[in-house]
Amino acid sequence: AGPCDIYSSGGTPCVAAHSTTRALYSSYTGALYQVKRGSDSTTTNISPLSAGGVANAATQDTFCSGTTCLITIIYDQSGRGNHLTQAPPGGFQGPEANGYDNLASATGAPVTLNGQKAYGVFVSPGTGYRNNAASGIATGDAAEGMYSVLDGTHYNSGCCFDYGNAETSSTDTGNGHMEAIYFGTSSAWGTGSGSGPWLMADLENGLFSGVSSGLNSGDPTITSRFFTAVVKGGPNLWALRGGNAASGSLSTYYSGVRPTASGYNPMKKEGAIILGIGGDNSVSAQGTWYEGVMTSGYPSDATENSVQANIVAAKYATTSLTSGTALTAGSKISLRATTSSSNTRYLTHTGSTVDTQVVTSSSATALKQQASWTVRAGLGNSACFSFESVDTAGSYIRHNNFALLVNANDNSKQFKEDATFCPQSGISGTGSSIRSWNYPTRYIRHYNNVGYIASNGGVHTWDSATLFNDDVSWVISSSFA
Ligand code: AHR
Ligand code: AHR
Repeated sequence: AGPCDIYSSGGTPCVAAHSTTRALYSSYTGALYQVKRGSDSTTTNISPLSAGGVANAATQDTFCSGTTCLITIIYDQSGRGNHLTQAPPGGFQGPEANGYDNLASATGAPVTLNGQKAYGVFVSPGTGYRNNAASGIATGDAAEGMYSVLDGTHYNSGCCFDYGNAETSSTDTGNGHMEAIYFGTSSAWGTGSGSGPWLMADLENGLFSGVSSGLNSGDPTITSRFFTAVVKGGPNLWALRGGNAASGSLSTYYSGVRPTASGYNPMKKEGAIILGIGGDNSVSAQGTWYEGVMTSGYPSDATENSVQANIVAAKYATTSLTSGTALTAGSKISLRATTSSSNTRYLTHTGSTVDTQVVTSSSATALKQQASWTVRAGLGNSACFSFESVDTAGSYIRHNNFALLVNANDNSKQFKEDATFCPQSGISGTGSSIRSWNYPTRYIRHYNNVGYIASNGGVHTWDSATLFNDDVSWVISSSFA
């Protein structure tokens, strides 16, 4: 059985079932999600390998070979057509044209399920999906349940990495107009014990960790790589539950009456569905999401415990974030541009600016050093890499507002993540392409001889699709200095 077969047996059927990694009903053979590739803007659907099975990631890999891919639709497996697509602007605008949110990279969150490769949804700040015309999702004070499987190590303090029930207008229509899973370290409303990240319920104008606003110490800091998050709510009753999605059972962090703060009893749920954003399209949060559902009716703890056993049996596990030319921490490299007009230029820095310059074996030592980088384990994720300047020890290539800079490591979470890159086989077919860890739609690119993290088409000049594949493909060699 799949999670939605279990909810159905429990009398609380799924009214939305979303996953890019697997089918959530044992009989489901339809499309899980749609990807769009950069080369020709065509799309294809990714379906399970077999009924009830893991996504056919090989279909995606073949379709996206030699280009980039974005996740355009996350299909609803419940039959209700509650698909998730690129979120529109609301109280806040997204970064794309006309205020839409960004779509997620199709390759930012690789995992395995029972040894088979699949891809999750890597939400960078700016990324969001939504359905403002969903059918069958709880409204008013009606009861519902929901769960999501998340990456417990990918989060921030922005508002709001959510999955669940939100406003149909994409605007903040008041307390009690949402009921969604939140995961992260926002401390603007509620907090749990320790320093987070925490599971909280986003009930609009408030992330709740328990019955009161602010600290509820029964809500623990989450430390597992894969995390099952559960929120459910009905008339003057709600609960927060969670557990390691790769082993063991769920714990109840809160179960009881509605928050004491005013406006949350009765609830005024509207029945739209969000992923990666707040109810008013707040787009500052990050996280990684693999699967989740919404139910009609208040699921029993026993039903949720069976769903957790099903998730554990799916055996979520990590897999490599890199490919192509292997890098070794401690080694020193130089990176040569491959675009035909620039293929004697190397990635260099001039002060804090990252640029490209022509470098040869007879260049001055100072220039050779500017073109040389020490490979370090990724400051923000040790499965990827950071690049320390050879002539300015302690300073690393990082992005800021999508421009590359060489800055001193200030040890902040933001710096470390901005300075983490995951190399892969060159998108052009030559060399390596170096993906930003926290913005995996973006790669290190030279544009007018300046360094950026660029997406394949987008709102910045340096996102131009012209020459994108060549501009993001670099030949890695041992260093000049
Ligand atoms: O409740 C927290 C957030 O507050 C909601 O997600 C958003 O709509 C509002 O800004
Ligand atoms: O470069 C994109 C983002 O811009 C970085 O993550 C952050 O440091 C800055 O706000």
